[in-house]
Amino acid sequence: MKIHGLSALVTGGASGIGAGVARVLARAGAKVAILDRNAELAQATAAAVGGIAIACDVASDASVQQAVAAAQAAQGAARILVNCAGIDTARKIASRKTGSHPIGPMQRVIDVNLVGTLSCCAHASYAMLDLAPLDADGERGVLINIASVAAFNAPNGQSVYAASKAGVVGAPLPLARDLARYGIRVMTIAPGLFDTPLAGTMDDAMTGQVLRQVLFPKRKGRPDEIGALVQHICENQMLNASTIRIDAGLF
Ligand SMILES: NC(=O)c1ccc[n+]([C@@H]2O[C@H](COP(=O)([O-])OP(=O)(O)OC[C@H]3O[C@@H](n4cnc5c(N)ncnc54)[C@H](O)[C@@H]3O)[C@@H](O)[C@H]2O)c1
Repeated sequence: MKIHGLSALVTGGASGIGAGVARVLARAGAKVAILDRNAELAQATAAAVGGIAIACDVASDASVQQAVAAAQAAQGAARILVNCAGIDTARKIASRKTGSHPIGPMQRVIDVNLVGTLSCCAHASYAMLDLAPLDADGERGVLINIASVAAFNAPNGQSVYAASKAGVVGAPLPLARDLARYGIRVMTIAPGLFDTPLAGTMDDAMTGQVLRQVLFPKRKGRPDEIGALVQHICENQMLNASTIRIDAGLF
């Protein structure tokens, strides 16, 4: 699809990877709506990219439904959804020192990272179904979900986060099967280590350990590099139903 003039929803677009995606899509001419729990930061990022901000907790289905409707009323139904909203948790599933992993943070990570992603896919794609096709192939839209390489190979203390992201890696094929008849593609992106406030919560020892495992280049990725991949997925119709790693070779 040609991005120019299309509406796009970016969840978690206030900060980090989502802000990078919002910048790149706006530069390509999209009308960007940032759906984020952090309303103040979302306003600032939206203003910087010439988009709009909508307060939304992706873990609440009602909040997602309202936000998708509000974005549609302001900018027309979105053809592009990029799910970047996500949270981390670092704790061993059980240890003598910390006990067993409490259910509260476990549930929240799954609700935000996995259920939130699926809920946004459901409401955003439903709003695309009756849109006119964009081209002779019948393309109507694209859904792009941010997972993590943790879905494939996570260090200890990351079982809950990794499981939430493994769900996002498992989703594109059946989602794409559900939506193929409407001309809607679905892709997952699995990033390695990127320079964002979330990654900044990792201590220096752990950051160094991860970067030593990276093949090349041995640095954190930049959010705009994920934005560039999102732009390519939007523009390249042959990308569908799979996951792309963007990690500089992190195994
Ligand atoms: N930074 C990395 O190295 C890295 C690596 C792999 C995957 N990821 C994934 O990329 C995504 C973005 O992470 P980031 O590093 O940019 O983090 P970040 O903390 O900079 O940004 C995350 C954004 O999501 C928003 N958010 C959190 N919970 C929300 C909710 N319930 N509803 C709506 N918005 C919510 C936050 O307010 C924030 O603006 C996450 O899904 C994360 O798991 C990040």
